[in-house]
Amino acid sequence: MKIQKNISLKNYNTFGIDAIANTFIQIESQKHINDLKLIINQLPKPFYILGSGANTLFTKDYTGTIIFINNKGINIIEENNNDIFVEVQAGEIWNDLVNFCVNNNYYGIENLVEIPSTVGASAIQNIGAYGMEVKETIHTVKYTDLQTFKSVELSNTKCEFDYRNSIFKNKLKNKVIITSIIFKFKKYSTLKLNYGSINSELKNQNIISPNLKQITSIIRNIRASKIPDPKVIGNAGSFFKNPIISKHELKIIKNKYPNIIYYPVNNNSFKIAAAWLIENANLKGCQIGGAAVHKDQALVIINKGFATATDIVKLSNHIKNSIRNLYNINLHTEVIFI
Ligand code: EPU
Repeated sequence: MKIQKNISLKNYNTFGIDAIANTFIQIESQKHINDLKLIINQLPKPFYILGSGANTLFTKDYTGTIIFINNKGINIIEENNNDIFVEVQAGEIWNDLVNFCVNNNYYGIENLVEIPSTVGASAIQNIGAYGMEVKETIHTVKYTDLQTFKSVELSNTKCEFDYRNSIFKNKLKNKVIITSIIFKFKKYSTLKLNYGSINSELKNQNIISPNLKQITSIIRNIRASKIPDPKVIGNAGSFFKNPIISKHELKIIKNKYPNIIYYPVNNNSFKIAAAWLIENANLKGCQIGGAAVHKDQALVIINKGFATATDIVKLSNHIKNSIRNLYNINLHTEVIFI
């Protein structure tokens, strides 16, 4: 395993921020994990486990060790008439897995097409889009504990999945390396078409019983109309989570803002569309230095090509303060600040 020093992280985060990592190692196999065990005490701390960097903002140079996960492999391990169990190495690109499923007619992650992520990070973040979350198809997460170097298998219920959250963002944060995930996909149609404009788009195209290719193509188009391709314009998808507020709080806000967009979570809590809050605060297009609120999706902060991390942090604080002052709601970042 190669240990690299003073590496630029510009190509390792989708914002394209040019921070320098003191130490950088790459995990491509179990052998690399065995090697890591032998040298871990010599590596500068803290450790940060990095996938595709699609949810990370490096606010300064990193004085510890970046552990970049780059192990590959997609293997069918078991199947029956209804289900197929597929073990996928953590460093696989998420969209490659979606394409694998679409090409083989396995159902369960099609609405998550084009999400920039690695497979390992998909579990950490419980990625979600268009009415689907990855927790619905994760069967088991396998990880190596960085203290004991034991391999552990965590069943779905033990992962404490929640909205953009899991045990890996809390108790196990930067303490484990997720090595692979076993997914349970369906071999029969389980399409979810109710979110946003999917159904109306199907009607427009006269598609009555859509297949996986048609669904992913529709979602790709919807995404492309709102979320810029990070390879072209630096961004990390939604910058903030959609805030969850109580029935009572919603009542107060609705009095003042009857057009507010929200969805019920349960009897007493509601998820508010943060994009609506930001747009309605007239912040679309708002720019600080090289960082700006995206004109087509107010929840996305973009790098106009010359943004520094400080520009992004300043813009984020400005948005948070404006939303608090206007609606008395606290926004929380989905993006992790390092
Ligand atoms: N809206 C506005 N202004 C905007 C954009 C949207 O008012 O500038 C309104 C829309 O009209 C819609 C509502 O806000 O009624 C929600 O918008 P959208 O469907 O685009 O979804 P979102 O809540 O902004 C979430 C996820 C996205 C995911 C989409 C689609 C979070 C934090 N974000 O965004 O996930 O792609 O739903 O399912 O939950 C990500 O996590 O990085 C991400 C992109």
